[in-house]
Amino acid sequence: MSETKRSLIPEPKASDGMEELHRLDTEAEAGGGPERREREHKAGKLTARERIHLLVDENTFEELDKFVRHRCVDFGMQEQRPAGDGFVTGFGRIDGRLVYVFAQDFTVFGGSLSEANAQKICKIMDLAMRAGAPVIGLNDSGGARIQEGVASLAGYADIFLRNTLSSGVIPQISAIMGPCAGGAVYSPAITDFIFMTRETSYMFVTGPDVIKTVTHEEVTKQELGGAMTHNERSGVAHFIARDDADCLAMIRELMSFLPSNNLDDPPRRASSDSSIRRDEALNTLVPADPQKPYDIKDAIHSIVDDNYFFEVHEHYAKNLVVGFARLDGHPVGIVSNQPAFLAGVLDINASVKGARFVRFCDAFNIPLITFEDVPGFLPGTQQEFGGIIKHGAKLLFAFAEATVPKITVITRKAYGGAYCVMASKHIRTDANFAWPTAEIAVMGPEGAVDIVYKRELAKALESEREKLRQEKIAEFRERFANPFVASERGYIDAVIEPADTRARIITALRALENKRDTNPRKKHGNIPL
Ligand code: HXC
Repeated sequence: MSETKRSLIPEPKASDGMEELHRLDTEAEAGGGPERREREHKAGKLTARERIHLLVDENTFEELDKFVRHRCVDFGMQEQRPAGDGFVTGFGRIDGRLVYVFAQDFTVFGGSLSEANAQKICKIMDLAMRAGAPVIGLNDSGGARIQEGVASLAGYADIFLRNTLSSGVIPQISAIMGPCAGGAVYSPAITDFIFMTRETSYMFVTGPDVIKTVTHEEVTKQELGGAMTHNERSGVAHFIARDDADCLAMIRELMSFLPSNNLDDPPRRASSDSSIRRDEALNTLVPADPQKPYDIKDAIHSIVDDNYFFEVHEHYAKNLVVGFARLDGHPVGIVSNQPAFLAGVLDINASVKGARFVRFCDAFNIPLITFEDVPGFLPGTQQEFGGIIKHGAKLLFAFAEATVPKITVITRKAYGGAYCVMASKHIRTDANFAWPTAEIAVMGPEGAVDIVYKRELAKALESEREKLRQEKIAEFRERFANPFVASERGYIDAVIEPADTRARIITALRALENKRDTNPRKKHGNIPL
């Protein structure tokens, strides 16, 4: 090269690229600026970066696509093209295990989804699938970026497709930490668990203004789609957190029970809790009077490692309790009727809640422990018109198709169809135990006597009728309301002393450690939706 030509090209300075890098870094990290950040803090919210900092192990977050900018040139958008475009995406570690994360930054265009930042999310979702690692989404967004029109909608659809294909392969967790409205709700809805922050989040398909126009109903955002609404009424959300920090700590806690993907085992945590620990209190937990309630959570807490039970869907359909715990250090999924709420009856909501949890555990190799005390399915026109037949069938289908180790303990009532549904021997449960207080029958003694002895009771003198009825009830109870008829037939493997339940379940789990069971080859089953 000639001297003259060389002088036209500026000598590269070592610091040039570094300065640009620093400038872009600063720009991306500034988000929507200090004023908008301040507004978020005042509202009790953290920013996207602050949230990720709390979510992952210290200094493990590797950000990707920090300098991506949107490509919209309509509505003056070409003048505002912040680096990162308001979404923070990347990967980090939780308790040393790889997770992919995205967080929407409300300070940049209200966290709205552009074509460019949808591509950022899709990139980490694809990477997560290839690496077999969970995806955690921290949602705080005004929805589709209005200025981008259909390009933004396309971005959502690209995400929905990935959510669907990832389902059952890697755990997907959503936290709603601000607005989540319109079609945007469907990404979290496809994921496995939804967390919501108590005062600062809401989710709905159509907001209060549209509702007012269409149906003339007046409702606030919180009433319509706040955290308690979705935890208690709709069942859309599984967890409610006090605030952002609490929410992120809860996600870390949930992750400790989950494998990274469907080919992994859930992580074992060493426990000093003896595997043969007895609890005499369990021998008297079930009241002598079969109509009296007791709290099944007392049994669950007593049986699991360190008495620690991480409940899922705590506020929804309380007649069924589901959640995670450890036995002998191994994560397990617990499904239990709750006699302390609606006598533990199975209704539509409880069936759907249970079915979804059972399917999650089965997809991710988490053994299922079922505690059963169920008087049957809830009678009534509301339930029948609402489709208890198809919803109850979901729970039955879920238990029947599950191939993970399955262990059932009948503590008291196991009546009718609910006996079959609640992980009975007949639907491939591996170990079926019953406490001596178990009552396994087609229905409760009172109902049975009123049907079987209908004619005799009608014929009896009125003064004699109740006495006769009580005699028959006692006779029926003596004959059927116990676990021994079922154990004679091998439907119950062992009648156990309640105090020994922990030891018996752990022994059964150890025997099932290498369980192999499969379902017939098919594209997929047709669960009654
Ligand atoms: C572009 C948006 C935006 C959006 C908010 N902003 N939503 N920009 N697209 N969707 C911007 C605002 O212009 C504002 O910018 C900043 O974000 C903060 O918004 P505010 O309105 O000032 O905040 P707040 O009062 O807290 O209200 C938040 C909000 C409201 C309730 C979310 O912004 C809102 O209603 N946004 C529109 C929601 C919506 O209808 N989205 C489409 C849903 S349908 P400045 O510069 O002033 O700070 C959908 C379809 C998905 O998402 C389809 C999937 C199939």
